Amino acid sequence: MDHFIYHDGVLHAEDVNVAEIAAQVGTPFYLYSHSTLLRHFRLFDEALSWGPHLVCYAMKAASNQAILTALAAEGAGMDVVSGGEYARAKAAGVPGDRIVFSGVGKTVEEIRSALEGGIRQFNVESEPEMRAISQVATSLGVVAPIAIRVNPDVDAKTHAKIATGKSENKFGIPIARAREVYAEAAALPGLKIVGIDVHIGSQLTQLEPFEMAYNKVAELTETLRADGHEIIRLDLGGGLGIPYARSNEAPPLPTDYGALIQRTVGHLGCEIEIEPGRLIAGNAGLLVSEVVYVKNGEGRDFLILDAAMNDLIRPAMYDAYHDIVPVIEPEAAVETVPYDIVGPVCESGDTFAKAREMPPLKAGDLVAFRSAGAYGAVMASEYNSRPLVPEVMAKDDQFAVIRARPSFDEMINRDTVPEWL
Ligand code: LLP
Repeated sequence: MDHFIYHDGVLHAEDVNVAEIAAQVGTPFYLYSHSTLLRHFRLFDEALSWGPHLVCYAMKAASNQAILTALAAEGAGMDVVSGGEYARAKAAGVPGDRIVFSGVGKTVEEIRSALEGGIRQFNVESEPEMRAISQVATSLGVVAPIAIRVNPDVDAKTHAKIATGKSENKFGIPIARAREVYAEAAALPGLKIVGIDVHIGSQLTQLEPFEMAYNKVAELTETLRADGHEIIRLDLGGGLGIPYARSNEAPPLPTDYGALIQRTVGHLGCEIEIEPGRLIAGNAGLLVSEVVYVKNGEGRDFLILDAAMNDLIRPAMYDAYHDIVPVIEPEAAVETVPYDIVGPVCESGDTFAKAREMPPLKAGDLVAFRSAGAYGAVMASEYNSRPLVPEVMAKDDQFAVIRARPSFDEMINRDTVPEWL
């Protein structure tokens, strides 16, 4: 459920008229609903209320400071994957003991800054990384809390580019080698083992792959405990999917997911961490764009928008489907027509949808891409020297620009021309 609905014939974000925001901010822009973000976070928090837990928002999904601040105020932890994300989480007021650090290539500088600023745990991805963390911790005279990410060799049944839990993927250590790696970790002076970490992929629309992975983690917990390790925490990753098309069958809800976690690992008495990103931010955001031209092509009509692949890369990169709706509510009886919906970037890949049935539209009309809150703004670039798209947040009847559109000068002045040119 989200808070983007038509009122009086116009799409609203909470109680704010989207067309009025467009008139003030200009298009294209990302638009988030504060209540939707919070609602999604709380669903996870409640789904795990049967035991001690921390929901660590995977901030890679949408990392604007306003979004982080809103979630931090709700008590969210953060899952970070870079020094930049760590700095953003701290700047949003998230205490170190609510930040977990994931990612396959943590550098010595990133490890050091997290140890100095405070960290709940590092999710270790490899043996060399584990040794590096121990070394940095020892040099600082501290002990680094770690969980080791195990790769359970489970097929997440999602798009190949976002599946991470098969043995051929670069993530984690093979679960079959876990005992040996935990033994080495226990012997390293700068580390304190606190748990096990697993994440098998993103946009999962079934619970079975989670169930297989979590059962393996439960078994491993018992084995490692028998080996003498203290496993007090299980980080079960993110990955629960969202409905991108309204017509599709809805993926399982956070409640079902929380119940599955209780069923598979609840008996172990561990503190549970999860790292959802997409489900919190995805349906809490729109990308709003204007039709620049309607071009009648050979056997098809193109809807040329002012948003492009550099603003929302998901269709080009993952063949992702996003619902695209007119901001002015169409008459119920209107006959739809098929459009190829494209951006102005000079690549054929800059195509959002082919033969998409839409009510007839004309230049100047506004459209909104739904489910664009996660992996939207954060994956945007300035390709074709199109300045980064701004972000706006709506809450009740108010809205604010939470990242301004850079001017051409601001964009150009980030470059420097050496004086010897
Ligand atoms: N934890 C780890 C270790 C991850 O790698 C990810 C996502 C998450 C949590 C959050 O997963 P989520 O709950 O959002 O599914 N750009 C792609 C998605 C990449 C996901 C990468 N890792 C897309 O637009 O679909």
